[in-house]
Amino acid sequence: MSDRLFIFDTTLRDGEQVPGCQLNTIEKIQVAKQLEALGVDIIEAGFPISSPGDFNSVIEISKAVTWPTICALTRAVEKDIDVAADALRYAKHKRIHTGIGTSDSHIKYKFNSNREEIIERAVAAVKYARRYVEDVEFYAEDAGRTDNEYLARVVEAVIKAGATVVNIPDTTGYCLPDEYGAKIKYLMEHVDGVHKAILSTHCHNDLGMATANTMSGVLNGARQVEVTINGIGERAGNTSLEEVAMIIKCHHDIDIQTNINTQKIYPTSRMVSSLMNMPVQPNKAIVGRNAFAHSSGIHQDGVLKNVQTYEIIDPKDVGIDDNAIVLTARSGRAALKHRLHVLGVELEQEKLDKVYEDFLKLADKKKEVNDDDVLLLAGADRSQNHHIKLDYLQVTSGVGVRSVASLGLSIAGEKFEAASSGNGPVDAAIEALKKIIRRQMVLKEFTIQAISKGSDDVGKVHMQVEYDGHVYYGFGANTDIVAASVEAYIDCINKFVKQ
Ligand code: KIV
Ligand code: ZN
Repeated sequence: MSDRLFIFDTTLRDGEQVPGCQLNTIEKIQVAKQLEALGVDIIEAGFPISSPGDFNSVIEISKAVTWPTICALTRAVEKDIDVAADALRYAKHKRIHTGIGTSDSHIKYKFNSNREEIIERAVAAVKYARRYVEDVEFYAEDAGRTDNEYLARVVEAVIKAGATVVNIPDTTGYCLPDEYGAKIKYLMEHVDGVHKAILSTHCHNDLGMATANTMSGVLNGARQVEVTINGIGERAGNTSLEEVAMIIKCHHDIDIQTNINTQKIYPTSRMVSSLMNMPVQPNKAIVGRNAFAHSSGIHQDGVLKNVQTYEIIDPKDVGIDDNAIVLTARSGRAALKHRLHVLGVELEQEKLDKVYEDFLKLADKKKEVNDDDVLLLAGADRSQNHHIKLDYLQVTSGVGVRSVASLGLSIAGEKFEAASSGNGPVDAAIEALKKIIRRQMVLKEFTIQAISKGSDDVGKVHMQVEYDGHVYYGFGANTDIVAASVEAYIDCINKFVKQ
């Protein structure tokens, strides 16, 4: 029987560290459920001690997801481990991922320490984590630049202390594929008890070698890979899940299997790109817009005669639907349902009817409704259960005049109206809103983004509002950006008022 390669997805931890790509908890749950459908084995859901938002997300993802192991990151610090264990309390399968830097530069400059002390701290952290969970992964940060002999001592010590998985990160993306593969081989051959644990790759893409390094690690004995959707991650990103999954699928000579349902790759890629506002580069392997587009005459001719001449992957194998229907105001419910299905979203009839109603309204304003719009409409549907809803909004603004807004809210079915002037249309609308919701709220963050292009596009607004010492995230999407902003503000308020 062929070996099993475990897929550890860190889109929601390492991937989410990219500035401007932060997701709120609802969006993280959406991604986590999609990762579960994709078939990943482990979801790294966050770094709980780093922020209340991360702590909360680990709790909510643990509740929402059934099959994958939920993993929480910590430093080799007891308090971090206490908080991670607490955040994982609802997970059906749980893992604590603890670790410390092992390269000479980390030991000297980051920890002002020495090699022996680092081994002691690593062992203590693993033992401490094992008091809470049976599954403990240890990471040797900057293992890529750690001398192999010392690394082997660290790995041996943490396995003895109870680590079930040992992660060998090429944190800076420095290694060459041969060098990284040789490192894994060295550990496989020189660590006593190495077979009691799984070695994991975790490669960054600073020199464009993340996938090559990961595969070299696998070919030399690693049986877990740490990856992200679309290869997102800090700086040049992490190894991309879709590349590793498709390399394994295409290369029958590599006798290894994953649990990935490759037909869910494209919908997952679209969802992550859309929610994180992180476009996929057109020539990105597997999921880029041009990944299967043959434009040269010679290639087109060959592909028409037999696709195998120039195509090593059938686009359908990664969930790309050649016959994608362009949705317009004349599209029916069935076309919308099909598109949502292709994008990985299944809705019950009642919800579908509501999303279809919103779709028709949007299609009246936009010529073509794209995948991002459709995903937004399906997500925006959650506002229907809100305690507070926006009934109407009217704004007057222009150059040389003060903006004025009037709006109507429905709060648990009761109607309220208010008007206000402001420093601009959004300010005027929010001031009017505050006249109805009489609470001390402070707007902490406010981002507006168009989804694709064109002046008829949907604007997507993310907000953070502070109330009573806590920060709440809100989201709104509308072709009118003032309306999207007010919807996002109301979404925040709905998080702390009674549902
Ligand atoms: O790149 C890295 O070293 C990491 C560790 C924290 C696992 O992300
Ligand atoms: Zn990393």
